[in-house]
Parts: sequence; structure tokens; C-alpha cells
Amino acid sequence: MRNLPPVLKFVWDSGPVVVALGFAFRLLAALQPVALLYVSKLIIDAIVAILSKHQPIPHRLWWLVAAEFAIAVLGNILTRIIDYLDSLLADKYMRYVSIQVMRHAAELDLIAYEDPVFYDRLERARVQATDRLAMIQMLGRLVQQVITTITLSVSIVYFSPWLLLLLIAGVLPAFVGESHFAFLGYAKNFRQTPVRRQLDYLRVLGGSKEAAKELKLFGLSKFLTDRFTRLSDEVYEENVALSKRKLIAGGFLSIIGSLGYYSAYVYVIWRTVMGALSIGSLYFLAGAILQASANIQQIFSTLSGVADQALFLTDLLAFFEMQPTIRSKPNALPAPRPIQRGFEFRNVSFAYPGSERRILNNLDFTLHPGERVALIGENGQGKTTVVKLITRLYDPTEGQILLDGIDLREYSLEDLYREIGVIFQDFMRYEMTARENVAVGRIEEIDNMGEIVAASHKSLADEVVAKLPGGYDQMLGRRFETGVDLSGGEWQKLALARAYLRDAQLLILDEPTAALDARSEYEVFERFAELTGGKMALFISHRFSTVRMADRIVVLSEGQIVEDGTHERLMALGGQYAGMFELQAASYR
Ligand SMILES: Nc1ncnc2c1ncn2[C@@H]1O[C@H](COP(=O)(O)OP(=O)(O)OP(=O)(O)O)[C@@H](O)[C@H]1O
Ligand SMILES: [Mg+2]
Repeated sequence: MRNLPPVLKFVWDSGPVVVALGFAFRLLAALQPVALLYVSKLIIDAIVAILSKHQPIPHRLWWLVAAEFAIAVLGNILTRIIDYLDSLLADKYMRYVSIQVMRHAAELDLIAYEDPVFYDRLERARVQATDRLAMIQMLGRLVQQVITTITLSVSIVYFSPWLLLLLIAGVLPAFVGESHFAFLGYAKNFRQTPVRRQLDYLRVLGGSKEAAKELKLFGLSKFLTDRFTRLSDEVYEENVALSKRKLIAGGFLSIIGSLGYYSAYVYVIWRTVMGALSIGSLYFLAGAILQASANIQQIFSTLSGVADQALFLTDLLAFFEMQPTIRSKPNALPAPRPIQRGFEFRNVSFAYPGSERRILNNLDFTLHPGERVALIGENGQGKTTVVKLITRLYDPTEGQILLDGIDLREYSLEDLYREIGVIFQDFMRYEMTARENVAVGRIEEIDNMGEIVAASHKSLADEVVAKLPGGYDQMLGRRFETGVDLSGGEWQKLALARAYLRDAQLLILDEPTAALDARSEYEVFERFAELTGGKMALFISHRFSTVRMADRIVVLSEGQIVEDGTHERLMALGGQYAGMFELQAASYR
């Protein structure tokens, strides 16, 4: 229930007018049952009077019937209006929360994405943005049920406070039962969360495009479905056990509830027979008591339904509570343009959050303006990590990274990002058009075909686009109907074009040519060398044919720079670089 206020705020913010209208109409609709009963009472009393006193039918009776008709019709119309408003609100809420989730996700640190707990939470927050609409309708229903119950109770008390006491005595056990089972249900859901997560994963895996190749060739389908069946059986059995208990206890409690109702009914009959109540009042009270007790029971089951839904919203709210730690300081400096002294790692150590292992260990390293540096090293030595630090996707655990002598943390983040063009090893393949795939490098230029074509030319992506039936407007990827899939190398050329489109002072390519064939790689690097002449560039590659084109080669090993110099110098040194180079060269001969 603690989750309710913030969720109500979301609901309100997503459409204040719709919420207010919905509330007003619900208020009217909530008064309808009592009004209907009351008019019926008047009609019955009028009829009894006519019969007992043999009077002619007064006009008033027909007016009452007309009123009852009007109230019934109004109730019908109100229900429809409320349904309509609910569906509007559902759409608005979904849109609002989805947008908020996307915005917030974009603000968070990259670290957050590498934390499985966060990732899980994000996934669920995303689902909840669209999946928890039932909750809104339930909340509305709850409001209506509460108001109806109050009006009915007030009118019952008007006739006799005893009746209300009887009623409460009848309903109380049901309340205790409902809340008890709501709690058990909550606890069960909580317990089952890990298993449900597994189930979700298996379901997604079983239908995913990425996994399809392996699932088929390795014959994994039975393995997956068996595991799914076993896990879902576990969940099912637990659910059945609880439902059974609820069935038995609920049945028993509802008998007690009926006892309460019928005791009240007997009391009303007795009072009527004694002449203290009219037949119309008997009718009114019998109806009011029945509806009130039904409503009270419904309130509790709606409440437990809301609580159940709110449990899932915990993730959504926790997600919104997360704050980024990497952000611009107030009064942050603009990034220097042009960069005068370059980037300097000073005694930088780094361990990924949640891990003790130091990936970088007192690393010292400078990247001067106008210099093209190749960063090399064996797998897992921390090359990509260096890139993530320079681009301030992470902050160092110890030490400092300076840009023109000032700590990176002093600069405005947006400004810093603008000055750096990076293509990561695991660059994105956007399932959008070819043009958009290039334009994401500098999204303001999306309509500037000239720039996009020029960047594509530099990265050899223009050759890829020339072969596409739709040219630059060709949809890529297999997700959408008209999409065309590309090979790994073709995707890479498009990604490279993004870097060229960017008007950045530092260009970083993390294994930009891993998927390229030998000829493309050679050409790409030739152009890269031409285009980056005089610019600052850092590239990572395992292919020494390209590495040797760099002005300076830096070898990273065990979190430190172990060798640093030109190709000739490092070869003469006869250290790690020379060893790796010889190994690769030998295998080609
Ligand atoms: N997000 C992460 N969380 C925890 N550890 C990580 C994370 N990313 C990388 N590592 C670890 O940090 C080490 C360095 O990784 P990094 O990706 O920087 O290596 P690399 O030199 O780029 O390797 P490769 O040549 O394979 O690309 C690896 O041992 C890896 O296990
Ligand atoms: Mg890497």
C-alpha cells in the first residue's frame, strides 16, 4: 500500500482531466444504488397505501416510476461513460509511464545496466508500464465501492444502528479472511519471483531470433520446454494449494457473512411485522443490507487485488528512485576546443562495481592532440575499459583522468560526449533505415543527406548502401517486414560512418575492423589514417597489419602500460609487442 501514493501520482499526471472526470462520474454512479432502492421503497409504500385504503392511483406513483426509470437509465449511461474514461486513462497512463521509463533509463549510469538486479528491474519496469492497467480500473472500482458502501451504511443507520452492527459482525470474518489470504498471496508471489523470472527468460529465449539458430541446430527445444514445464509446475502447485485453502476458508467465512445478513433480515422482518417499519422500508433495508455486505466483501477483494498489483509496481518505483552518479556538476566547464594538451591518465586504478578485481592498476598514459595511438593487448586486459573511462561512462576507482590538465569530472558531460566519437566493439545495429543508422552518430544531421553520404563514403558504407534495394531509406534488420539483414562487416561499415559523421575531436574505434575482410580492412585503415591525420585518435585492434600504421603503439598488460612507442622501436625492444607481432606474422607465411 506504500506504493499507492506515488502510483496515484503517475495516474494523475498522465491525465488530470480524465482522472477528475472519472472520479466525478464514479461519485454519481456510486450514489445510484441507494437512490434506486429508495425510489422503489416509495413506490412500494404508495402501492400498499392504495391497496389498504382503496384509493385511486395518484399521479405521484407514475412520477416515481418515471424517476426510477430515469435513475436506471442514468446508471447505464454512467457505466458506459466510466468505461470510456477508463480506456482513455489506460492509454494515457501507458504512454506516460513508458515515456518516463525511457527518459529515466537514458539518464542512468552505464554501471546500472551491468548490474543484473537493475537490469531485471528495468525489464520489469518496462513491462509494468504497459501491464499494470488492471490496477487503474481496480482503483476506480474501489473508490466507487467505498462510496456506495458508505451511502448504503448511512441509510441503514438511519433506520437502525443495530442493523449496521449485525452487518459488520457478519462481514468482519470475511475481512479477516480476505486480508489473511491477500497477505499469503503476496508472500507467495514474492517467493515465486525468482522462478517467474526464470520462466520469463525461458519463454523469451524459446522465441528469440538471436537464439533460434542454436536452438535448432543443438536441438535444445525439448531441454527448454522440459525445464519450463518443471518450473511452471512448481508455481502451479503452489498456486493450487493456496487457492484450495482459500476456497475452503472463503466458503466457511461467507457462511458466517450470510448469517450476519440473515440475522439482520430477520430483525427487519420482525420490526415490519410489529408495524415499526413499512413494507417499502423492508424492501429498502433488505436490499441495502444485501448490497452493503456484498460491497464490503468486494472492497476487500479489490483491495487485495490492488495490493497484488502494487507488489509488481515496487520495481517500477524502485527504478524511478535510482539516481545517476555520473552527471555534470553545477557550473561544469565546457569541453575545450581545440584540445591543447590531450587526455592524461594519472595513476588510474579501476575495478568494476561489485568486484574486487582491479582491471586497471595505477595506469599512467597520455594521449596527445594530433596523435593516433593503437592500444593493444590480449583479451581481457582492459582495453575496452580504458575507452569507457576516457569517455566517462565510468569514473576511475582511484586516480584521475585529466583533459587539458583538468579532471574530466569538472567538465559538462554533454559537452564531453560531443567531443568524442566512439564506435564500440559491441556497437548497435539499429533496426531502422540505413540513413538513420549513420545519422545516429549525430542525430541533428538526420536530414542532411550530404553529410550522411560523405560520412558513408569515408567508412566504405556507401558501397554497402549502393547494394540495398531501397538505398539510404532501406529498412535494415529482420524485425520489420521490409527489413534487409546485413553481414557483420557491412554493419560495421555503417557503424564506422557514425564516427565520421560526428564532429568530434577524439575518435575512438574499438576493434572497428574485426568483422571486415582483409581488403576492406586495409582500405578502411588507409582512409582512417588519411582522415584522422592531425586529429586525435585511439584505436584498438588485434590485427598488427593495421596497428603498425599508428603513430604510437601502447601495450596494455595486467592493468598497466608495459610498452609504449612506434612500431620500429617496439620491434627493436623485442618485448611483448614484438613477440605478438612475430607470432601473427609467422602464421601468415
Ligand atoms: N561490466 C563489467 N563488469 C565486470 N567486469 C567486467 C565488465 N566488463 C569487463 N569486465 C572485466 O574486465 C576485464 C577487462 O575487460 P575489457 O573488456 O576491458 O577487456 P579488453 O582488453 O577490451 O578485451 P578484448 O580484447 O576481449 O576486447 C575482463 O576480465 C572482464 O572480465
Ligand atoms: Mg575489448
